[in-house]
Amino acid sequence: MASINKSRNDDLDISPQDVIADAFNRFGDNRISISFSGAEDVVLIEMAYQLVGNKVPAFSIDTGRLHPETYRYIDRVREHYGISIDMLSPEPNTLEQLVREKGLFSFYQDGHDECCSIRKIQPLKKKLLHLNAWITGQRRDQSATRTGLQQEQQDGVFSTPDHPITKFNPLASWTSADVWEYIQKNGVPYNPLHDHGFASIGCEPCTRSVSRFQHERHGRWWWEDEENKECGLHVQNVNPRPVRVLDKHTQPA
Ligand code: ADX
Ligand code: SF4
Repeated sequence: MASINKSRNDDLDISPQDVIADAFNRFGDNRISISFSGAEDVVLIEMAYQLVGNKVPAFSIDTGRLHPETYRYIDRVREHYGISIDMLSPEPNTLEQLVREKGLFSFYQDGHDECCSIRKIQPLKKKLLHLNAWITGQRRDQSATRTGLQQEQQDGVFSTPDHPITKFNPLASWTSADVWEYIQKNGVPYNPLHDHGFASIGCEPCTRSVSRFQHERHGRWWWEDEENKECGLHVQNVNPRPVRVLDKHTQPA
């Protein structure tokens, strides 16, 4: 597919389906999983389903703050494909402590790092202890922080010397238009929030709808600096080293 924001990586890319097939061949048997956010990255699930049927390995990080529409949609995807989707939850004691000390909306004052660390990064780190690879729906056109994204990379955040983790981004060179063309052509179920101006969907308090003239991630953490809008899941896009927030809230296994 053609990409509007062509980068030097685009010419080296293979099709997303080939990336997924290669990833499953190398990391099959429960060592790899798709990271499904409940948004348009559902195309990964459709592509994987076409390869391995209802054995698609997938998980979602249930921050406890997703939109009601997203929870219903995740369950709809589960039923539509007849697959299991592991729902990852934050560690209750750490979360309770944060809320006790700072309330439910501390991110508006303190920035989103601390809350994302507890609600997203810790659960993901725990999940990745049992995997050798994960697959994300990141694309280069999503953000200034993602323009150099590779289809396959060593995970610079969650890998350790003893436990290297490979990260696949099969849709790296796809544009938003490519994704929506695929969804429509293949009759893939999508989150109804997309029909209400939500281009990029995260947690409810940190996501706003955007106009068609605004960039799709404009509605994410809108009170923060555009250049730094990564929550830690993909912080290697802006900082290749393991992150401070991980050290602060993640206990060693
Ligand atoms: S974020 O870091 O800013 O939240 P974004 O919403 O762009 O990420 O999503 C990029 C990719 O990260 C998604 O395609 C998905 O693979 C993964 N991801 C983001 N949020 C979640 C989530 N709650 N659960 C599982 N995967 C997620
Ligand atoms: Fe918390 Fe917002 Fe991050 Fe969700 S996106 S984990 S609510 S800071």
